[in-house]
Amino acid sequence: MIDAARIHTKFVSRFSQTPTMIVRAPGRVNLIGEHTDYNDGFVLPAAIDRATFIAASPRTDRRVRVVAADLNEEDEFGIDQIERSGMRPWSNYIRGMIKSLLAAGHVINGADMVVASSVPRGAGLSSSAALEVATGYVFQLFHNLNILGEELALMAQATENHFVGVNCGIMDQFIVTLGQANHALLIDCRDLNYQAVPLPASTSVVICDSHIERTLAGSAYNQRRAECDQAVELLKSHIPGIKALRDVTSDQLQVYGHVLAPVVRQRARHVISENERVIAGVNTLQAGNVAEFGRLMNASHASLRDDYAVSIPEMDALVASAQRVSGCYGSRLTGAGFGGCTVSLVANDSVEHFRHEVAAAYLASIGRSATIYVTHAADGVSRVRPE
Ligand code: GLA
Repeated sequence: MIDAARIHTKFVSRFSQTPTMIVRAPGRVNLIGEHTDYNDGFVLPAAIDRATFIAASPRTDRRVRVVAADLNEEDEFGIDQIERSGMRPWSNYIRGMIKSLLAAGHVINGADMVVASSVPRGAGLSSSAALEVATGYVFQLFHNLNILGEELALMAQATENHFVGVNCGIMDQFIVTLGQANHALLIDCRDLNYQAVPLPASTSVVICDSHIERTLAGSAYNQRRAECDQAVELLKSHIPGIKALRDVTSDQLQVYGHVLAPVVRQRARHVISENERVIAGVNTLQAGNVAEFGRLMNASHASLRDDYAVSIPEMDALVASAQRVSGCYGSRLTGAGFGGCTVSLVANDSVEHFRHEVAAAYLASIGRSATIYVTHAADGVSRVRPE
């Protein structure tokens, strides 16, 4: 697995000098609060102990040379006229982030960089947010830029929205930047206030990768966003002052839901109930009631499957087999859906049994191998060298 020593070696062998700096930015997993971020709502993600590493040295000629060590590819461009790359899609996260820094008025120069990651690509664990945030942080440190974590996250989100062309919310970039070891973060996606919530030491966060590519994710994601906006538009005339589904309670939806088409009402019901589950979930974790938190995770999955319709049979199978294992408190799909990963909260002493049971059940029912990662909540982006 990639680490500081390995990325250092890769940099030296490509650029024949030692890198000035090494940074890492983690992937993430969301414990609860799915499809709520773009509704001004609440999320509870954690950064994970798999990360993207960048080894870099500054240049003075406004050029960037970057090696994607995992792909054995290289890219080079000038920072004064950054265009999207059709040939090197991975480079767009780097190009876009540099463009966002410049657009925000920061004075920067070029760099030589080597990138490598232990965050699986395309699995819904935010490998792209990790690459954007790591890139931004390299330039922030090189040029002593005065950028708050929240600002770095917003620049990474802007990169994704305006340069890469993915209309995501703020959750991924925020947790990748500001995650805290052994904690999840309760993030209010309206005002970006956040609070660290300790994870119970007796449990592990276990991620199961379905290895189903999230092909529908982009189009369905935008469609869900549009349905949420539509719900707000229609509810506005009945509930004055609402700006987003975040402002609507379950009771209000009961009363006024009839103004929405059935599908739109279901979408709204997911978002509204999910926000309530996040707040309830944080309270239960703080009260030490892991069992109740697990129950809320299970309810979240059911809501994503039945009301938000972003699950697929393979993920339902993974979740169902996880929920059957004794010692598993709760399990749900994590991220946008349509493939990718599930997240389960498992008692430490049941983790080996869980691994075995879930892998065997997935193979038997779906005919595929799942990859199972036992993760620990990690810190957000940081400098690894110099220490
Ligand atoms: C993706 C997006 C996030 C969020 C989740 C769903 O991960 O990047 O902003 O909307 O889907 O919760």
